[in-house]
Amino acid sequence: MKSLNLSFLEFSSPCRLFFTCVVVLLPFISLVSSVNNGTDKLALLAFKATITEDPYGVLSSWNHTADHCQWYGVRCGRLHHRVTGLDLQDRKLFGSISPHIGNLSFLRVLMLNNNSFHDKIPQQVSHLHRLRVLQLFYNTLEGEIPRNLSGCARLTQLRLGFNRLVGEIPVEFGSLLELQYLTLPENHLMGTVPSSIGNMSSLEFLSLSNNELSGKIPSALRKLTKLIVLAVARNRLSGSIPPSIFNLSSVMLFDIGENQIEGTLPANIGFTLPNIEIFSIYSNRFTGAIPWSISNATTLELLQAQFERAFGEHASFGPLKQAPSMELSILIIWGVEDTMI
Ligand SMILES: *[C@@H]1O[C@H](CO)[C@@H](O)[C@H](O)[C@H]1NC(C)=O
Ligand SMILES: *[C@@H]1O[C@H](CO)[C@@H](O)[C@H](O)[C@H]1NC(C)=O
Ligand SMILES: *[C@@H]1O[C@H](CO)[C@@H](O)[C@H](O)[C@H]1NC(C)=O
Ligand SMILES: *[C@@H]1O[C@H](CO)[C@@H](O)[C@H](O)[C@H]1NC(C)=O
Ligand SMILES: *[C@@H]1O[C@H](CO)[C@@H](O)[C@H](O)[C@H]1NC(C)=O
Ligand SMILES: *[C@@H]1O[C@H](CO)[C@@H](O)[C@H](O)[C@H]1NC(C)=O
Ligand SMILES: *[C@@H]1O[C@H](CO)[C@@H](O)[C@H](O)[C@H]1NC(C)=O
Repeated sequence: MKSLNLSFLEFSSPCRLFFTCVVVLLPFISLVSSVNNGTDKLALLAFKATITEDPYGVLSSWNHTADHCQWYGVRCGRLHHRVTGLDLQDRKLFGSISPHIGNLSFLRVLMLNNNSFHDKIPQQVSHLHRLRVLQLFYNTLEGEIPRNLSGCARLTQLRLGFNRLVGEIPVEFGSLLELQYLTLPENHLMGTVPSSIGNMSSLEFLSLSNNELSGKIPSALRKLTKLIVLAVARNRLSGSIPPSIFNLSSVMLFDIGENQIEGTLPANIGFTLPNIEIFSIYSNRFTGAIPWSISNATTLELLQAQFERAFGEHASFGPLKQAPSMELSILIIWGVEDTMI
């Protein structure tokens, strides 16, 4: 938060003129009216009420003797004393996420990952217009992803991987222009990869691996010029990859293994992906060979490829000749993806 500059008070009374008085004091008046009036405390207590197991006892501090801004995992704004963060990661909490969470209207960070939250993600999360980080991965959440989470326009991280979510990836998410992380791996998501994802101009991490997605990789993804990770492995994707996707020069991890994707690799791939570290296309329906240009990709650490009908000559790799064994390769990929959930 920016600190207020009150230096003008040194020079004159700010309320000598009515106009100055209103202009100067309006922010304070609205600040005062939004100051903690009990709403947040009630919402937190309602959130606690649907948590039925708390083996580490972290929620015992959520009692009436302490101010709710002092409760475990709760962070408040210094000035307005409203709840801005709720961090209860890794606490083995069992329960559901109360819809009253939607009343924490100043919330910016919600991290409930690695617990045992079940049931649906409440629609009311979409009321949190200041929300930037939503981390719910490693739980057992069910049902569909609420469509109107797209109303949380300030989101930079939407990380819902390793749950039991079903349904489609909402097309509406394309309006999340500040989103940097969209990570939804290990769910049961179906349907296609929406073209609207190409509108998320800030996106750096896109991980949709281990779902039941079908259709083509949309060519609109070529617009994601900041993309570092493109992981859509282990789905039912088919068709060929739009050549422009290989023009995403910032990509370091490209993982589309275990789909039904066909086609050949562009000859200049080693030049168009200058930052590539992991390139994995095994278990698809590619034909042809690994282009010679790949030996120019000096950052490459792992290459996993397989060709249904091989023609042409495979590139030689120099140092890559001692490529790790397949088992080791897969382990490395999992290691990387663990940070992408
Ligand atoms: C607190 O203030 C908000 C508006 O600033 C209002 O909507 C809410 O009802 C108030 N809550 C309580 C418990 O007074
Ligand atoms: C949250 O807000 C809704 C709608 O304004 C209200 O009905 C509900 O009582 C509030 N919950 C709490 C715990 O204050
Ligand atoms: C209430 O919370 C405080 C810490 O915030 C803790 O010291 C105290 O033991 C708690 N009281 C009960 C009855 O659990
Ligand atoms: C999940 O939380 C537990 C502690 O409750 C911790 O031991 C474990 O390492 C965490 N797992 C991950 C993947 O962060
Ligand atoms: C999201 O949809 C639900 C149910 O349709 C509704 O209750 C909620 O108000 C909506 N939120 C927004 C921000 O539109
Ligand atoms: C978002 O993407 C879709 C599909 O690619 C497109 O039709 C739409 O016009 C885009 N919206 C904006 C606001 O750019
Ligand atoms: C990739 O980028 C190069 C250079 O900007 C351009 O000439 C080429 O047409 C692009 N290829 C595709 C398939 O978009």
